[in-house]
Amino acid sequence: MNQAPRTIEWIGDADGFVRLLDQTLLPTRVEYRDCRTVEEIWEAIRMLRVRGAPAIGIAAAMGVVLGMQSLAKGTSAVERLREVTDYLRTSRPTAVNLFWALDRMARHAAPHLEKLPPDQLRTMLLEEALRIEDEDRQMCRAIGAHGAALIGEGQGVLTHCNAGGLATADYGTALAVMFAAAEQGRKFAVFADETRPLLQGARLTAWELQQRGIDVTLICDNMAAQVMREGRVHLVVTGADRIAANGDTANKIGTYGVALLAQAHGIPFYVAAPSSTFDLSLSSGDAIPIEQRDPREITHGLGKQIAPDGIKVYNPAFDVTPAALIAGIITEKGIIRPVREENIREVLV
Ligand code: MRU
Repeated sequence: MNQAPRTIEWIGDADGFVRLLDQTLLPTRVEYRDCRTVEEIWEAIRMLRVRGAPAIGIAAAMGVVLGMQSLAKGTSAVERLREVTDYLRTSRPTAVNLFWALDRMARHAAPHLEKLPPDQLRTMLLEEALRIEDEDRQMCRAIGAHGAALIGEGQGVLTHCNAGGLATADYGTALAVMFAAAEQGRKFAVFADETRPLLQGARLTAWELQQRGIDVTLICDNMAAQVMREGRVHLVVTGADRIAANGDTANKIGTYGVALLAQAHGIPFYVAAPSSTFDLSLSSGDAIPIEQRDPREITHGLGKQIAPDGIKVYNPAFDVTPAALIAGIITEKGIIRPVREENIREVLV
């Protein structure tokens, strides 16, 4: 199985920088981008150069280290840390991993802020960012191990958006389930929804699965119902950006529709996500903030204008799938099934 290129990497010591694979250029160009300032990390997150909930969290954690490199003489570390984390919080609103990682970095630094010299503080923060990255890698493997048995020999699996290696530090969440099943020797077919408007399915998931030698077929989003009706899909697995305490799950726009289609065809719909994607402070999905993005992603999304000038556009980047439509949530700690608040708390807490 071919190895995919690394999504995000810290280069050097605490005075180093972040190297990330620019995902906006895939699949035709595999190019890395070096981010040396917190502003460059913010831009990379906002523009989806780095994307997918866990990868956004890792990028933000590393962004904190970059931000602390420019601690001006005479400025307090407490103030600078707050400034940097507050700023990164504004990059994207839906994936809770961003806020989880920033809170974790701030918590880790808190007892040392007034005491340590700036260089030691940066080293300590880098160690924490690298721990987040390392835990994410282990998380992917554990999710794969827990979920692999869901895919049977000769079956069809449908996925939406990209929840693979490009979205994490290792080989993904939803795609980890597929990679682990393949490692166990099973043959199966994957249908990748193209995922309008930004085509993460076509550009990223199809590419990633192909790179790793998995049988993948690209379909337009509006073909999923037909493919299910033809009996080609036995399982749906997607990732998640934020999961509320009752199991309602925000993921890439279109996921809710796929879950409804799966229910209509009697196909189990699973979500694969690490514990860092749960937001137990929200009782239901109604409270999850949904990112609204630039209308041009829809009117000019395929490289040329495809809608009339001045047209009104609605462009929510995520939707919420109610827990009732989800057969189970595959986490690094095991599968939560059925999806109920008490089961979520039992597995996570
Ligand atoms: O807008 P994106 O590309 O960041 O959206 C990504 C998704 O919706 C993924 O499915 C989710 O973040 C899970 S990634 C393991």
